[in-house]
Amino acid sequence: MTPSFFALYIHFPWCVKKCPYCDFNSHAQNGELPKALYINALIADFKHDYALVAGRKISSIFMGGGTPSLFHAEDLRPLFAEILPHCNPDIEITLEANPGTIEHGQFKDYLDLGINRISLGVQSFNPIHLKKLGRIHNQADIFKSIAEIKSAGFKNFNLDLMHGLPNQTAAEALDDLKQAIALEPTHLSWYQLTIEPNTYFANYPPALPTENTLGDIEEAGLALLTTAGFERYEISAFSRNKQKSQHNLNYWTFGDYLGIGAGAHGKITLHAPDQIIRTTKPKLPKTYLEKQTCVQMPIPQSALPFEFMMNVLRLNHGVQATLFQERTGVHLTAIETKINNAIMAKLLSANRERIQASDLGYRFLNNLLTQFMD
Ligand SMILES: C[S@@+](CC[C@H](N)C(=O)[O-])C[C@H]1O[C@@H](n2cnc3c(N)ncnc32)[C@H](O)[C@@H]1O
Ligand code: SF4
Repeated sequence: MTPSFFALYIHFPWCVKKCPYCDFNSHAQNGELPKALYINALIADFKHDYALVAGRKISSIFMGGGTPSLFHAEDLRPLFAEILPHCNPDIEITLEANPGTIEHGQFKDYLDLGINRISLGVQSFNPIHLKKLGRIHNQADIFKSIAEIKSAGFKNFNLDLMHGLPNQTAAEALDDLKQAIALEPTHLSWYQLTIEPNTYFANYPPALPTENTLGDIEEAGLALLTTAGFERYEISAFSRNKQKSQHNLNYWTFGDYLGIGAGAHGKITLHAPDQIIRTTKPKLPKTYLEKQTCVQMPIPQSALPFEFMMNVLRLNHGVQATLFQERTGVHLTAIETKINNAIMAKLLSANRERIQASDLGYRFLNNLLTQFMD
């Protein structure tokens, strides 16, 4: 069955400079960005991919990076003119912004263009940690950006924060969280710093907090968020007043989406032939600008259960068990033994109406996921 919610991800692959912990497809800008060329490439990319799903209305768009806020509303206008006719009227449109790139009036222009959700990359409020993380912004830039987001009239905005930073104490991590909460975002993404291979931090490992400190941060942080009225609905995602990220919920329920831009990938359920495919675009901006080739690969049926679980088990309430067959086309009985084993290991909830991690499984998600490997 074709999922009704349909999303579009648009990748912007440049940043002012590369952060030492980051393994996203982002490249330090080297002089003037080829903005018009990139927007034209995105338009061609969109037209190509949309032909694969013609007629399906788009319910969410996420512009991620890299640093999409290096592009202003005027730069984005031709792309929006191409895409908006294919969107639902109540669409969620998010743009990731870096506080170090924001000019006065920029958010108002985004809102006028149709963007209705901002995700601001705060990471920390602490000047020492911001410096260590190689961020291009300071605390004042964060407050200025928030003031601009609010005065522009955005009702829905997320703050990205990280914890478990080099030499960070529990008190410092909780202070970051308190400062973020005080700014009254509708959503908080609270990530524990991971050291990713092939990053500066992987090559020059910083001193990270001990497991005990990380445990203290997590326990006290979750309590703080709950008291402040934030509901944890995914490992790192917290929403207030039920303002969950519709775009991310679509990923976490194994929904369909197009991915355009350098290194972007998509996932589409096709009907003739009956299969689920992944699409991938060239990773390097230069190669992408030369040609927006779209590699299409069917996801083998044997890989679908793991792919499904990898997403839905991130949700703290999981999903209805019936969604498994709806989204994968595979009958639930095909994974019955694996489900039984996971329930016996107390990693999966025993309620068979749902596919949901137990408290233990949620804490040791990787252990739970290995139960569903092919
Ligand atoms: C797509 S990234 C980039 C957002 C934006 N470019 C920025 O940095 O302001 C989204 C978020 O992932 C988080 N993140 C990136 N690298 C991480 C890492 N190694 N460990 C934990 N979280 C990370 C950061 O909070 C970041 O804001
Ligand atoms: S600004 Fe964001 S995307 Fe760019 S390098 Fe830093 S973390 Fe990565």
